[in-house]
Amino acid sequence: MSPVPPVTEIGPRDTALRNAFCDYVPQVFRTVDFRRWCDWGEWTDDYRAFVVLEDGRVVANASVTRMRLRLEGHEVRAFQFGAVGCVPSHRGRGLSRRVMTAALDACGDAPVLLFANPKVRQFYPRFGFEPWPQTLFAARHEAVPEGPPAPTLDLEDAQVRAELATLSREGLPVTERFGARDYAAIASWYAAAGFARPLRRLGADAWVFADVEGDTLYLDDIFAREPFDLRAQVPRLIDRPIRSIRFGFTPERWWPGAEEAGEDLEADLFVRKLPLSRQPHRFPVMART
Ligand SMILES: CC(C)(COP(=O)(O)OP(=O)(O)OC[C@H]1O[C@@H](n2cnc3c(N)ncnc32)[C@H](O)[C@@H]1OP(=O)(O)O)[C@@H](O)C(=O)NCCC(=O)NCCS
Repeated sequence: MSPVPPVTEIGPRDTALRNAFCDYVPQVFRTVDFRRWCDWGEWTDDYRAFVVLEDGRVVANASVTRMRLRLEGHEVRAFQFGAVGCVPSHRGRGLSRRVMTAALDACGDAPVLLFANPKVRQFYPRFGFEPWPQTLFAARHEAVPEGPPAPTLDLEDAQVRAELATLSREGLPVTERFGARDYAAIASWYAAAGFARPLRRLGADAWVFADVEGDTLYLDDIFAREPFDLRAQVPRLIDRPIRSIRFGFTPERWWPGAEEAGEDLEADLFVRKLPLSRQPHRFPVMART
């Protein structure tokens, strides 16, 4: 039998290993890149990668993000897994089991969540995870552009990133049902990788990730210090008439009349030791790793 390969933990200050991690990611997730996010300094102590190395190359990985979840109005300390994988040449040798086990050990008894994909739905139950449904939310709402368009902010700018971090840490969680706070470094990953909708500034302390497609406003996330009248601000977020809004989170706080619009079949949420209620919810899309 081959010896059990050691697992190495990579943190924000391990520059050489961080580069090895960045080389690994697109070998497993073709369109995904961590380099710009690293260059922005967004890899903090909240993010750790558990890897198996071979000749200085990362061949398997399970990343762990420390999370401040909101669950039915309470804070729950938890972890979220991401970038779990093994390079194609090394699959079937137990290397992913090795990094998954090391990453889970590092989480102790804390709850863990992760967003998977259809190919690995049978993989995570082997590690004590269970699938949990996610719901889509939408509202019928007609509006036309009006008032000064909300300026677009660029997360390339370190000052903008710092302000988003403060809003996310100190502001209102976008949902109390099943969400999080203090996840600006996850949201910025989407921006760095080119996957985020534009970040729009409705006011000094009210920023939203939003965009129009067809006649629908997609409102992915809201970072705000205080509640505000979202309905009144919609005309500043659109450049053409809209007839509906879709939410990237459970909108119980921001649009109480929103309706369930079916199951989110692309989410593939898995949870472990996380006492979720059966009430419909959508974990914020910008807080997923
Ligand atoms: C899924 C993946 C991580 C498995 O990696 P691997 O190194 O081949 O897995 P291991 O050899 O450590 O296998 C561990 C266990 O999972 C099982 N397994 C492996 N791939 C599986 C899959 N796709 N579905 C279900 N079970 C799987 C193995 O049979 C093994 O079972 P056992 O330990 O009980 O005997 C790898 O195929 C991969 O990187 N896929 C692409 C990336 C991806 O989709 N990652 C998930 C992102 S959420």
